[in-house]
Amino acid sequence: MTAQGSQLRFLVFVGSVRRNGMAARVGRFVQKLLETRHHSVEVLDPKELNLGEVIQPLHFYSNPRQVPAILHHINEKIKAADGFVVVAAEYNSAISPASSSLMGNFPQSSYAYRPSAIVTYSAGE
Ligand SMILES: Cc1cc2nc3c(=O)[nH]c(=O)nc-3n(C[C@H](O)[C@H](O)[C@H](O)COP(=O)(O)O)c2cc1C
Repeated sequence: MTAQGSQLRFLVFVGSVRRNGMAARVGRFVQKLLETRHHSVEVLDPKELNLGEVIQPLHFYSNPRQVPAILHHINEKIKAADGFVVVAAEYNSAISPASSSLMGNFPQSSYAYRPSAIVTYSAGE
C-alpha cells in the first residue's frame, strides 16, 4: 500500500470523441489501476469537455481576461498535477486529433517537469 505522503495526483487524458469509442473505457481502466495504488486521479475526456478543435490555445490570447474560464480551469489542474497519463489510440499512425487538440490548448510550461506515460490501444483487428 502506498504511504499517505507519496499519494500523487494524476491527470488522465483520453483521446477520442467517437460515438461508442473505446477511449473512455481505457481511461477508466487506467483510473482504477492508479486508484488501487491510492493515487488521486482525474480523467479529462474531450467528449465531455467539448472544446472542439484547438483554434486559439490559452497562451495565444493577448488579453488574459478573454481566455474562456474552462481553459483557465483545466490549465490550473494541469499545473497542479504530479503526473500525466495520455490514453491514445492510433489514428492514421499518429496520436488522435482529439488528444492533440485537447492537450494543445495549454502551453508546454503547464506540463513541464512532471513525469508522463502513454497508454495505447487498438481495435485488435
Ligand atoms: C480515423 C481512424 C484512423 C485509425 N488509424 C489507425 C492506425 O493508423 N493504426 C491502427 O492500428 N489503428 C488505427 N485505427 C483504429 C483505432 O486505433 C481503433 O479503432 C481505436 O479503437 C480507436 O479509438 P477509439 O475507439 O477510442 O476512438 C484508426 C481508427 C480511426 C477511426
